[in-house]
Amino acid sequence: MTSSSSAPHRFLTGITTSGTPHLGNYVGSVRHSVRFSQRADVQSFYFLADYHALIKVDDPARIQRSTLEIAATWLACGLDPERVTFYRQSDIPEIPELTWLLTCVTAKGMLNRAHAYKAQMDKNLARGDDPDADVNAGLFMYPVLMGADILMFNAHKVPVGRDQVQHIEMARDMAQRFNHLYGEHFTLPEAEIDDAVATLPGLDGRKMSKSYDNTIPLFAPRARLQKLIGGIVTDSRAPGEPKDTQGSAVFDIYQAFADHEEAEAMRRAFADGIGWADAKQILFERIDREIAPLRAHYDDLLNHPAQIEKILLDGASKARAISGPFVTRLRHAVGLRKLDDRPSAAKAKSGKTARAAFKQYREADGLFYFKLLDAGGAQLLQSLGFSSPRDAAQAIATLRQQGTDALPLLAEQLEPVGDEKRQAVSAVLQELAADAAASEK
Ligand code: TRP
Repeated sequence: MTSSSSAPHRFLTGITTSGTPHLGNYVGSVRHSVRFSQRADVQSFYFLADYHALIKVDDPARIQRSTLEIAATWLACGLDPERVTFYRQSDIPEIPELTWLLTCVTAKGMLNRAHAYKAQMDKNLARGDDPDADVNAGLFMYPVLMGADILMFNAHKVPVGRDQVQHIEMARDMAQRFNHLYGEHFTLPEAEIDDAVATLPGLDGRKMSKSYDNTIPLFAPRARLQKLIGGIVTDSRAPGEPKDTQGSAVFDIYQAFADHEEAEAMRRAFADGIGWADAKQILFERIDREIAPLRAHYDDLLNHPAQIEKILLDGASKARAISGPFVTRLRHAVGLRKLDDRPSAAKAKSGKTARAAFKQYREADGLFYFKLLDAGGAQLLQSLGFSSPRDAAQAIATLRQQGTDALPLLAEQLEPVGDEKRQAVSAVLQELAADAAASEK
């Protein structure tokens, strides 16, 4: 799951602010992403998907409460807002703007096939209703808004549950289509699934989800946690009868918290006929051992909403330092331009012609990057982050000297270069070498 290379990666994930965080969110998303955010070679973006929440929730107080709870959850679980970019989706006005740009490169037919929309349609059809009964256009557009979330920050990896993989594929599709039409602006994102704990079963054995009303709130007080765990469905085998781990919600939830040895011990206990009450007690203690210290921190944070508000606003300004200039560039790319802005004519007048070039720059993560642009400004190469400008310059020098032969050497330092682009890269590097030789004379 984690790549062995030390190449930096941008990592992004959001949680919809439609309810109270539960164990499934913790196991499937929060825990993994907090751990990941602590890696030195990763730049991460975490956000509260409150625009997404409006699709399902029309209770304003619930949206606000959920936003507070989910923010507090992330912080209590160890997310460090100094290290990562932590923000609320609706504080970034560039996101709805990008949503529109992407909407216009997204095939309606693709959205027709999105799972969430299709599920609702199938339900309607089964009931003999109009297929679009109770479907708002927000549900239909959900994948485009999500695409904008991801592409805005050019995320490489998006950690999600299996049920979200289709959305990431759609985001790739939008990025590809946009890049094809308007030049290389977007990184193609990939889903990252933690296979060990992709989805957690809920109280009734189905996926733990707000929509099934089968969740265990992550920070339920101890007594309530115990009571809820007592209510997880089991079969009716008596103590002493061997039990199946396969398909057992009690076992699956335990496994998501336990280490390998603990899980094996539980497996043996099942085979030896442990009673359900005992198994649930062990499960309860195991979860509580992990959650109790976080719960105290969470309760404290909930009592200080102003503090969280400030953290989110600081995060938004960090995010907008990226999204603002990026959307300006995208607007220009699609032709939403000032009428007197005619770059090629202006340049011709000043006697300069546009040239391919390496551009070096620093990003909000403090790392140093470069890219290679062709004469038209389209991006041919994009580096990953270097810790010093000298290292970035060194990689550029290697490319200048060795041309495309340097690409395998620099595989860890560059975003992958598709075959279709190699030729262009090669041509531009030759052109630059010729220019350099000419100016030396
Ligand atoms: N759709 C995700 C969910 O409900 C939340 C989400 C919105 C998201 N935008 C995202 C997740 C971008 C990852 C990346 O769980």
